[in-house]
Formats: sequence, C-alpha cells, structure tokens
Amino acid sequence: MKQFKVVKIDKKHWMWLGISVTIVSLAIILSMCTGSPFIGDRTNTEASSENVEESKEQSTAEIEQQRMNAKRWYNQSCALCHGEQLEGRLQNPPLLNTAKKYTADQVYTIIIDGRGDMTGGFLQGDEARAVAEWLIEIDK
Ligand code: HEC
Repeated sequence: MKQFKVVKIDKKHWMWLGISVTIVSLAIILSMCTGSPFIGDRTNTEASSENVEESKEQSTAEIEQQRMNAKRWYNQSCALCHGEQLEGRLQNPPLLNTAKKYTADQVYTIIIDGRGDMTGGFLQGDEARAVAEWLIEIDK
C-alpha cells in the first residue's frame, strides 16, 4: 500500500513534467514564429525601401520647387540685364552657355562679388546659390 502511493506520486510528477514540457516547447515554437528574424528583416526592408521611395519623390518635388524659386529669383534680380530667356540685353551679355564657361561655384562668386561692369549682391546666400545651380542646370 505504501509503495503504491509512491508510484502514484511518481506518475503525477511525470504528468506535470509532460505538461510543462509541452507548454515550454509550444512557447518556444510560438516565439520563433512571431519573433523570427527573417520576418522581422523582411518588414524592415519593406519599410526602408518605402522610405527611400518617399524621400525620392520628396526630393524630386523639392528640386522642382527649387527650380521654380531660382527662376523667380532670376527674373526678379537678373532678367533686367540678362533677359528672361537668358538672351542678354543691351550691353549685358547673354547667360546661355553658362555651364560651358563656368561651374556653379564660379557663377555663385560672380553673383556675390560681381564681375567687371556687373556689381555683386543682386542676390545673396541660398538664393544666389540656387540661381547659380539653376543657370548651370538648364544649360546642360
Ligand atoms: C545691372 C545689370 C546686371 C544685373 C542685374 C545682373 N548682371 Fe550679370 N552681368 C552684367 C554685366 C554687364 C556682365 C558682364 C561683366 C563683365 O564681364 O564685364 C555680367 C556678367 C554676368 C556673368 C558672366 C557672363 C559671362 O559670360 O562671362 C554671369 C554668370 C552673370 N552676370 C550672372 C548674373 C546673375 C545670376 C544675375 C542675377 C543675380 C546677374 N548676373 C545680374 C550685368 C548684370
């Protein structure tokens, strides 16, 4: 009778052991599925490629905006002498072929410091930089 009791307790232990092993392995399997690095990586890649596309679109829009700004600043500050079509006016030279003569940096310096009969300072800072790059850009 005493021995039977011991055997009974042992059986109970095995049952609990079995149940906890099942629970633990289920938990491991579950965590492998949800926390799988493969799935995690794939979502990350998708997310980052979306971001890249978004920032591409954004920068195209920004470039377009920058171009329109540059054109506007040119019309306000330079077109009087150099013409709306860059054709030049009176004694002022045309700005067609600017990219063949100058880099954007050089045009920027001309805008800031002036050159010969052209006084500098018609535009400053970012606006001067934008117009300089725009003049080079449209000539390419
Ligand atoms: C008041 C008239 C006037 C205005 C306004 C003016 N320019 Fe000029 N620009 C000139 C004259 C004159 C020259 C020729 C300078 C020289 O070499 O003697 C010149 C030369 C240049 C040149 C060099 C051209 C070449 O072929 O060597 C560039 C580039 C230029 N201007 C850009 C600009 C830009 C950009 C603006 C507007 C921010 C501007 N200019 C505003 C009169 C003007």
